[in-house]
Amino acid sequence: MLTLARYVQSMSELKIIQKPIEKELKAFELHFKESIQSKVPFLASITNYILRRKGKQIRPTLVLLSSAMIGGVNKSSYTAASLIELLHTASLVHDDVVDEAYERRGYFSLKAIWGSKVAVLVGDFLLSQGLLLAVEKKEYELLGIASEAVREMVEGELLQIRKSRKLDISMDEYFEVIRKKTAALIAACTATGAKASGGSEEDVELMRNFGYDLGCAFQIKDDLFDYEKQGKIGKPVGNDIKEKKMTLPLIYSLQNCTKQERRHIIYIIRRDNKNKKRIEEIFQFVNKYKGLEYAEEKMIEYKNRALDILKNFPDNESKYALTELVNYTIKRKV
Ligand code: FPP
Ligand code: MG
Repeated sequence: MLTLARYVQSMSELKIIQKPIEKELKAFELHFKESIQSKVPFLASITNYILRRKGKQIRPTLVLLSSAMIGGVNKSSYTAASLIELLHTASLVHDDVVDEAYERRGYFSLKAIWGSKVAVLVGDFLLSQGLLLAVEKKEYELLGIASEAVREMVEGELLQIRKSRKLDISMDEYFEVIRKKTAALIAACTATGAKASGGSEEDVELMRNFGYDLGCAFQIKDDLFDYEKQGKIGKPVGNDIKEKKMTLPLIYSLQNCTKQERRHIIYIIRRDNKNKKRIEEIFQFVNKYKGLEYAEEKMIEYKNRALDILKNFPDNESKYALTELVNYTIKRKV
């Protein structure tokens, strides 16, 4: 079970990481609030709901720390952080429609409360507010970086949907999915953060690659949660299997088992993936083939690659905070 103590511990670890940009994060929150406002009463009540259930703010933290590490936080950094947070929120609202998910961060999803039609349109609203913000501030380079990330996210989601229908995802395809659906936006955080603070082309490229590695480690951790007894906050255990999403621990195990076992496991995912006993069978199968250990190893490889990239930058407290954020990503309990 996720206990209150573990949740609080996790949150205070994040607070320490966010210390060098504490004031800037507060300023960002106001900036973000403004950027999400609408005069249309129905939209305003929905955006208020969104603002009330704020998440861990990992993405704005990454934008601001990347800026702070390189040339310092400035107006462009706030535009980048709000732009990315708007796109991120839009993607989650849409994702809950795609996945037919009724919960997000322990709260009801927009899809659950207002239904799919409203949720799709609110996602579109958030996306357009992000694009307009960048245009209004004439931040075309930041807009370019963020728009590329959106394209990659959509490609990643589509590949994931196709693979969950065919149930034939390979290891390479899994890495392509996580790189696109999750890591691309994290890479956009660190690249825009670097760019906004006046970083060189080389700095921006290094930070983009840092974001890709961190993002892949982040998603593998997320996928590991699904196989852990306690599950993640607001999410029932075995959620991915219920959504027919095959992730690294399972893909690896399926590559190493007998043909018969493979046929049986694929049968469960296709026909009986909501049955508790059957899901438990999949957990045992993954344990037998050490799928969790393999995924953990891969996650650590990505983590180490991310940490190596940071070595290219001069030491300062924001760099230490980014280092700790990388470590937190793979140790976190939520
Ligand atoms: C969560 O994945 C979802 C994503 C990482 C990306 C979703 C992207 C889109 C729906 C494309 C549209 C993008 C925009 C900007 C409108 P998950 O379902 O594996 O994780 P979860 O457990 O958090 O739901
Ligand atoms: Mg989802």
